[in-house]
Amino acid sequence: MREYRVLIIGFGNVGQAFFELLNLKKHLLGINFIVTGIIDRSRGLISNPSPGVISEAHTGKLLGKKVVLDQIPGFIEESNADIVCEFTDLNIKDKGEPAFTYLSTALRSGKHVITTNKGPVAFHYDELMELSRKYNRLIRFKGTVMAGTPSFNILDLLPGTRVEYFMGILNGTTNYILTRMYEGLTFDEALREAQELGYAEADPSLDIDGVDPALKAVILSRVIGWRHRFEDVEVQGIRDVDVKRHGDRVIKLIAHANADRVYVKPIPLERGNILANVSRNLNALTLKLDTLGEITVVGPGAGRMETAQAALTDLMYIVNHVNYLGR
Ligand code: HSE
Repeated sequence: MREYRVLIIGFGNVGQAFFELLNLKKHLLGINFIVTGIIDRSRGLISNPSPGVISEAHTGKLLGKKVVLDQIPGFIEESNADIVCEFTDLNIKDKGEPAFTYLSTALRSGKHVITTNKGPVAFHYDELMELSRKYNRLIRFKGTVMAGTPSFNILDLLPGTRVEYFMGILNGTTNYILTRMYEGLTFDEALREAQELGYAEADPSLDIDGVDPALKAVILSRVIGWRHRFEDVEVQGIRDVDVKRHGDRVIKLIAHANADRVYVKPIPLERGNILANVSRNLNALTLKLDTLGEITVVGPGAGRMETAQAALTDLMYIVNHVNYLGR
């Protein structure tokens, strides 16, 4: 059986769910994935973790060897892992750091990388792609847009098509809040629920003010081949939305881009529009393709297991391609 060594950076909701998923699916995957270590800012370094670390993490008893932040790149460099899976939190203030340092260190030291963190991908796209080419290692980041639901990776199935525009509901928290406000909750009540369900960012203003879907719109744009940067996105969040003001139309926080423009803003949609019927934490992405017209994908876009599935999809992509490419 093929064997791959995996190093996990960040052991919060998604990191733990990914570890759980690997243990749960190991007999189905036909590959022996060995988690050689977990590095977490607050829990330290855990070498050769047993499945028991999950319950220890839940009860707050998980404590590894103490690490300071500056040591983490060194651990990544020295690790004998084949694949580094990075699940740290979004840090917008530092433009995706320290995650970008972790990913670039991993690529430079010959590891393939997976991340679910939007920051480094949205702010350092070109550098990451360049490192991936230079060191001949793969980088995958499916979990940054629509969690495990196919989004930009659906384009892998459509070679030769050209995307003319996309339009999507890319944030689960705001879609959940808007849905619940239509059901009679106040904004604050609905936000609290979204937080309890684990959809919101640690700092929920990133969701509410449209920053999170703006980052996702940048990532989608870059994958498609457009050059939009985060600074180019016209962003308006949902703080001032009054769901009662638009008659029969349904307000959704829409991310839209074409080659010239990218924006995120609340838009009232006619009920016949597919996106108007995408509710709760579901996300959706409509891609307008030159040869097919519009295609729409709908599915969960947030949540611990949903995002862990994205990382598993990336992991299987990497091992299948490494095998195929013989590296
Ligand atoms: N806070 C994000 C959302 C998580 O609500 O969509 C997934 O990126």
